[in-house]
Amino acid sequence: MTSRVLRVIIMGPPGAGKGTISSRIASAFKLPHLSSGDLLRTHISQGTHIGREAKRYTSEGLLVPDQTMVSLILDSISGSELRWLLDGFPRTLPQAKALSENVGVDTVINLDVPDSTIIDRIKGRRVHLPSGRVYHDEYNPPKVARLDDHTGEELIQRPDDHPDTVRERLQHYNSQTRPVLDYYEKLNLLRSFTGTESDVLWPQIETFLHSEFSTE
Ligand code: AP5
Ligand code: MG
Repeated sequence: MTSRVLRVIIMGPPGAGKGTISSRIASAFKLPHLSSGDLLRTHISQGTHIGREAKRYTSEGLLVPDQTMVSLILDSISGSELRWLLDGFPRTLPQAKALSENVGVDTVINLDVPDSTIIDRIKGRRVHLPSGRVYHDEYNPPKVARLDDHTGEELIQRPDDHPDTVRERLQHYNSQTRPVLDYYEKLNLLRSFTGTESDVLWPQIETFLHSEFSTE
């Protein structure tokens, strides 16, 4: 399993649990996890050219322009063409088409979580910026309040996690990212998992990936 080609995309609205489920997939299937949001946050904290551009959009809950995202992601996967887990990309039809023109995709996992669950979750989210590890004040607290379990470093609240910005992000998801789900559905690659609990969705996703992609 560890040497097989496995190119997975994980999709779902903001706060659906993509980061949370991705960490589990990455460790169970030894897949490099590439989160477009984590990549952008690293650029922003380092003050790079891409980071300065991204900050203008992400702080308003807007999508970063396609051209910037496509080159950022294609550059990042170019060294590991055959095994990756993409989280947060593609988010628009032009991004999905650009990816298809450059690499194959084996499966697209869609976390179908209702909007009503989302805002409540995001309010309590805390992240460890260098690793992308995700916590929740109430549902998944770190061992010591506000500190990362592995490094003891400070956790932060993302600037785009303000409830008004989250509503904006949900609107963009519905208008710009839902067509990407239809695109993968037509290609017969989409597999949706409906629910509100990552702990309930995870065993279903793990079983699916094992059955579809275990050694031939
Ligand atoms: P990104 O970082 O990708 O944000 P997002 O898609 O809005 O998703 P989130 O990271 O907010 O949520 P998640 O689904 O990972 O949930 P998580 O596991 O953290 O992108 C940020 C921004 O960058 C975008 O808005 C955009 O501006 C820009 N961008 C990124 N990619 C782009 C692209 N391709 N094109 C253009 N622009 C792009 O879980 C959420 C919380 O819930 C956590 O606190 C977690 O602990 C908690 N939680 C999880 N599961 C449960 C549960 N079962 N019960 C209770 N709490 C739970
Ligand atoms: Mg995330």
